[in-house]
Amino acid sequence: MTDLKARLGQVQQQMDGLLQQAVDQLGSLDARLAEAMNYGLLNGGKRLRPLLAMAAAEAVGGQSEQAHSAAVAMEMIHSYSLIHDDLPAMDDDDLRRGKPTTHIAYDEATAILAGDGLLTGAFEILLEDASLQPGQQVAMTRLLARAAGAAGMVGGQSIDLGHVGKAMTLQQLEAMHRGKTGALILASVQLGAMAVQWPLPDSSQQALTTYAEAIGLAFQVQDDILDVEGDTATLGKQAGADMALNKPTYPALLGMDEARLKARELVEQALEALDCLRQQGGETRLLEQLARYVIERDH
Ligand code: IPE
Ligand code: IPE
Ligand code: MG
Ligand code: MG
Ligand code: MG
Repeated sequence: MTDLKARLGQVQQQMDGLLQQAVDQLGSLDARLAEAMNYGLLNGGKRLRPLLAMAAAEAVGGQSEQAHSAAVAMEMIHSYSLIHDDLPAMDDDDLRRGKPTTHIAYDEATAILAGDGLLTGAFEILLEDASLQPGQQVAMTRLLARAAGAAGMVGGQSIDLGHVGKAMTLQQLEAMHRGKTGALILASVQLGAMAVQWPLPDSSQQALTTYAEAIGLAFQVQDDILDVEGDTATLGKQAGADMALNKPTYPALLGMDEARLKARELVEQALEALDCLRQQGGETRLLEQLARYVIERDH
C-alpha cells in the first residue's frame, strides 16, 4: 500500500497541473465559468480513473505518459458527472470532496454549465492530442462517447433516479451500477491501453475488460458500504445520503456482510484476469494495487 500511496500522491499532483492546463486550453469566454470548472475539477479527487488509464498503459507495455490525454478526459467527464449528480434535481448534496458542492459555491446555473463545459471539453482534449493516430483517436472518442452517454454513465444515473424508494432485483442493481459507475471505469482502462496499442489484441482487450468490469462493480459496492459506515469528514461527502434518499444500494439489498463478500470476490476476479497480461510481459503491478485499493479505501 505504501507504494501505491506514494504513486497516488504523485499522480494527484501531476493531474492537478494537467487539468488546470486543460481548462485554460478550452478558452472559456466567461471567467466565472472557468473558475467553476476548475473548482469542480481541482478539489482533491482521488484521481482513480486517471490512475487506471495510466496503469492500463503500463500493463500493455507502454508508458503512463502516453495515457495523459485519456486520463485528463476521463477525469473531466467524471468530475462533470459529480457536479451534476450533486445538483438539487439529482442527489441534492452540498458537500463534495470535503468542500461545498459547485452549485453551493457558485449557483445552480453555473454548476450545470460548468458540467457541460467539462463534458464537451473532455472530447476536445482527446482530439487535440497530436501523438495519437487519427484512426486511433476516432476509436477512442467513439468509446468515450458511448461510455459517458445513455448506454453508459448517463443511462445508469437515470435508472438510479428512477428507482428512488422502489424495489430492485440484484440484476437490476448490477445493471444500474454497470452504467453509472462501471462504464467510466471500464473506459478509463480501455482508453489508457488504446493510447499505447491500437488496435488492441483480443486477448488484452478481454483481460482488461474482465478486470475493469469487476473493479467497477466493486468500486460502487464499496461506495455504497462507505455511505453506511463512513463518516462525513473522512468521506468528504455526506455519509448516510443514500439511506436518507432511499436509494437502491448493495447493503440495502444484500445486507452488509454479503455486500462486503461480493466486493472481495470481485477483486479476486479482477486480479485473476491480469494473469494473461503478465504472461505477455505487461507491467500489471499498478493495476493489481488499484484493484485492492478499490475496496480498502475509506473515502
Ligand atoms: C464517486 O467517485 C462517485 C462514484 C462514481 C461512486 P469517486 O469516489 O472516485 O470520487 P472522487 O473523484 O475521488 O471524488
Ligand atoms: C454517482 O453515484 C455516480 C456518478 C456521478 C456517475 P453516487 O450518487 O452514489 O455518488 P456519490 O455517493 O454522490 O459520490
Ligand atoms: Mg447519485
Ligand atoms: Mg450522489
Ligand atoms: Mg454513493
